Amino acid sequence: MPNETLTIIDNRTEQTYSIPISRGTIRAMDLRQIKTGPEDFGLMTYDPAFMNTASCQSAITYLDGDKGILRYRGYPIEQLAEHCTFLEVAYLLLHGELPTTEELENWSCEVMHHAMTHENVKKFMDGFHHDAHPMGVLISTVAALSTFYPDARNIGDPKCRRKQIIRLIGKMPTLAAYAYRHRLGLPYVYPDPDLGYTQNYMNMLWRRTEPKYAANPVLARALEVLFILHADHEQNCSTSAMRAVGSSQADPFATAAAAIAALSGPLHGGANEEVLRMLDEIGSKDRIPAFVEQVKYGKRKLMGFGHRVYKNYDPRARIIKRVAEEVFEVTGRNPKIDIALDLERIALSDEYFIKRKLYPNVDFYSGIIYQAMGFTPDQFTVLFGIPRTVGWLAQWQEMLEDPEQKIARPRQIYTGQDKRDFVPITLRGQRELAGV
Ligand code: CMC
Repeated sequence: MPNETLTIIDNRTEQTYSIPISRGTIRAMDLRQIKTGPEDFGLMTYDPAFMNTASCQSAITYLDGDKGILRYRGYPIEQLAEHCTFLEVAYLLLHGELPTTEELENWSCEVMHHAMTHENVKKFMDGFHHDAHPMGVLISTVAALSTFYPDARNIGDPKCRRKQIIRLIGKMPTLAAYAYRHRLGLPYVYPDPDLGYTQNYMNMLWRRTEPKYAANPVLARALEVLFILHADHEQNCSTSAMRAVGSSQADPFATAAAAIAALSGPLHGGANEEVLRMLDEIGSKDRIPAFVEQVKYGKRKLMGFGHRVYKNYDPRARIIKRVAEEVFEVTGRNPKIDIALDLERIALSDEYFIKRKLYPNVDFYSGIIYQAMGFTPDQFTVLFGIPRTVGWLAQWQEMLEDPEQKIARPRQIYTGQDKRDFVPITLRGQRELAGV
């Protein structure tokens, strides 16, 4: 058994320190003892963008970026996508185990029961401009839920927390569907608790005058699989936002609104919308090489490519490619898939992408499916946010129950001015007079 410690010699003082290693990690606080003298604050680590810093211990999602492995609570994503419903996976992420038949029935009933929103939600939804971006609408309406449920502030009570978790998972599709219909000027459709989670969402989006909307089962299953693939992805930008904001003990609705805001950026969940715009701009296969050249010269980014953790094929992208073919059997082929497939082929054989280990990520193919199903590109990130809500809430709950967690508060390295005296406004700009 090797000695699980790290020996550090501080050449400034010639002192030697022994730092414990656990799970391939040292604790940053163990470095604080390394000082040049009593006045010294102690050694810190500098890690902009958290390239090499674990901010928590988590038992929810396992990701091996070099091998292209993704597991929820130990179960391979491929098996969950094949055999589960989204709500079954949601239960797994939140409770740690797959539900029994009875548990799943109760859980589904509870979530669907909470799909309804207060009538006033419709009123402030109406206040948004007709072309408001749906992610902006979602951020605002989820934050507004905290005004309807003041009990949500009681984050220390596990029973109360569970109630808010169910509320938010239940209401996300309703808010998203209301935003969609508001944009089109269509009347809102109330949730139908008799339907499954994705079928109900499709009902609220697309029901017109028929008494009962019946979603195409292939499309409903495809959406279910896409929701499963997006449900969690350990400490990504939006989940880190959820944990950081939640660590201040803000209520879960305000906290989730912050996570949705983080998701909306084009380097994170907003990438799926950008991929479609990029494919539109490329327009035809013969223009791919010229586009790839622009990317290699740093003028553009190949959206839907690259990942902080995956340095191998994103396993979710592989499943999504298969789902795309199933969806096209129903909807007809989205011609953008052929441009995307060719773009992937050309990129994966190019030295630029090989050297940097850039592979298609989850966002590369998802938008093509969503578009074939009838969604407009500005809805794509919303379709990421609905299922990711489960992951955010699971991670939030884990953070609150972790005795090691405290309010998130990083350090900085100050690089600004040293102390200087105030300069009256009449003397500013006259450096000599001001004595500077
Ligand atoms: N197109 C062209 N070059 C790229 C790309 C790309 N999509 N991604 C990374 N690179 C290059 C980057 O320029 C850098 O090159 P160099 O070493 O010469 O400076 C190298 O690859 C390493 O990239 P990085 O920016 O240091 O990597 P990162 O871990 O900081 O960024 C990323 C990860 C996902 C933000 C980035 O790959 C990216 O911007 N991708 C496009 C946006 C995208 O698809 N985002 C969705 C991510 S997956 C789902 C999600 O999280 O929502």
